[in-house]
Amino acid sequence: MPAVFPDRRRLLLSGLALHVLSACGGGGSAGAAPSPAPAPAPAEIPALKAHFAAHFKIGMAADPGGYKNAVANPVILKHANSITAENCFKPASLAVSPGVYNWATADELAAFAAANGMVVRGHTLCWHQQTPDWFFTGTAAEVRARLETYVHDVVTHFKGKVACWDVVNECTSDDASSAYRNSRWLQILGPDYIEHALRAARSADPDAKLFINDYGTEDPAKLARLMTIVAGLQAKGVPLDGVGHQLHVSTTSPTPANVDNALRSVAGKGLVNHVTELDVSLYNDPGSCFASRTGCAADITGDATLLAAALKAQALQYRALFNVFKQHASLQSVTTWGIADNSTWLSGFPIARGNRPLLFDATGAPKPAARAITYDSYLP
Ligand code: XIL
Repeated sequence: MPAVFPDRRRLLLSGLALHVLSACGGGGSAGAAPSPAPAPAPAEIPALKAHFAAHFKIGMAADPGGYKNAVANPVILKHANSITAENCFKPASLAVSPGVYNWATADELAAFAAANGMVVRGHTLCWHQQTPDWFFTGTAAEVRARLETYVHDVVTHFKGKVACWDVVNECTSDDASSAYRNSRWLQILGPDYIEHALRAARSADPDAKLFINDYGTEDPAKLARLMTIVAGLQAKGVPLDGVGHQLHVSTTSPTPANVDNALRSVAGKGLVNHVTELDVSLYNDPGSCFASRTGCAADITGDATLLAAALKAQALQYRALFNVFKQHASLQSVTTWGIADNSTWLSGFPIARGNRPLLFDATGAPKPAARAITYDSYLP
């Protein structure tokens, strides 16, 4: 039986009670002004980590500044049993100079996770962005050694504290010219850099699960390129446990069928699926917006009518995606890229613009999207 949406029921009941009271002249002592209607109970939802416990962990991405503020802190504590550092585990944050590390903020996050029953998804070891230039200087042998040393040192530091690593991030090409993104890693080391990073991670912590993480896996052509990379690694016996699907999506794209296809393909290779960076932008931008920052949709957050329609479409998209997620036993973790709409990378990407892509609003209250994924009978 579908769950009844309790907030609506409560509102109906309290409205009914008020009506009866006022019809009877009740609600206050004779002669006194009628007491004000009680504020409706806060529209709450169940803890997502409990609600989806039979299916997957619920994660949220933040740095300490992102989860310590008064809006986000109660939300992540109530709903998440997994956390991903939004930035403080990246090479740009950890790697000061060769062999010198800045662990403080990342250690703080790992301690917060341990104290609050959250696993840590380590994000990320090898990427073409947010990586200091000195990684890429010198001979290919030196660059390889630097990569392997970095992966070894970081994974060793967090051994036992990080459950899984996005070892390689965004290594798949966006066009058909190659399976591999034409990054500095590829240019210097060739495709084997992926293998070097994965092997270094496995040897540093044999218990940590190792992932390749990428965006656009819901595009069948890009998925095919990623699966070519995966098949090549598996043929060589390279350690790889799963694929992370970022899922930075919009209210109209992708179709549930394409997400289903991506999860099915990865599971077909015997690998685990994680959804790693889910957010649903209010905007359906053309490709030019991402390529050249042109043609991006205009900010709608100041227009109440357009905003309400977009939040409704967003709720339906979140529901459609979670309905696919729940069908995949191989999907073990679903992380949103942020906690609440008070802080989202999409307010600056691809252009500066109001955006509200998460399940909780800028005050930390559950949005229609949060109700849509927890109450089947709720109509956004
Ligand atoms: C983003 C962070 O959210 C921003 O704060 C930072 O300025 C840039 O990186 N794909 C990823 C994430 O794998 O690491 C990115 O995070 C978002 C896109």
